[in-house]
Amino acid sequence: MQKFARIALLALCSATLLAACGEAEDTRPGQPVKTRQVAFKEMIKVFEPMGVMLREKRYDEEKFLRLATALIDKREAPWTHFGPDTNYPPTKATAKVWEEPARFEEERKRFFTATDQLLLAAQSKDLKRIEPAYQAVYDSCKSCHNPFKAR
Ligand code: HEC
Repeated sequence: MQKFARIALLALCSATLLAACGEAEDTRPGQPVKTRQVAFKEMIKVFEPMGVMLREKRYDEEKFLRLATALIDKREAPWTHFGPDTNYPPTKATAKVWEEPARFEEERKRFFTATDQLLLAAQSKDLKRIEPAYQAVYDSCKSCHNPFKAR
């Protein structure tokens, strides 16, 4: 179960970021940086409770399925807000997002595939499928954050 403990750390980082982000305002028209950051926060709000459920061994098939479905809805939101010229404070994105767009797109696709698989696993209501599928989504978040999000 130790693997699921790592998700708590991810949630903690987001709480820290929330506090840190209070200082710099996104003053540009349409607030692209703020909008995508809010979109990622919306994603973690439905992703994290699935990890808690697995970690605390209180898997609830209906609730889990609702969250996995909500993640599919919310996964669309951030990407169109990474336009050219949107690398400015308070962004936590690294310059690589704009320097290596093909790699960024590859990571985004990997994440979409993993969330598709998680939804299928949630629909199967088979914990033996759900646990590795959840971990694969977690790994896809990490795999993109490592190069593309500053810590
Ligand atoms: C394809 C790349 C990619 C994937 C996949 C990805 N992220 Fe991110 N994420 C980013 C980038 C880039 C930022 C920084 C955005 C900014 O500050 O401009 C970010 C920011 C965040 C933030 C911080 C928002 C804030 O400012 O407070 C959270 C939380 C987050 N991501 C959670 C997740 C979770 C959870 C997943 C997986 C379920 C995930 N991300 C998947 C690239 C990704």
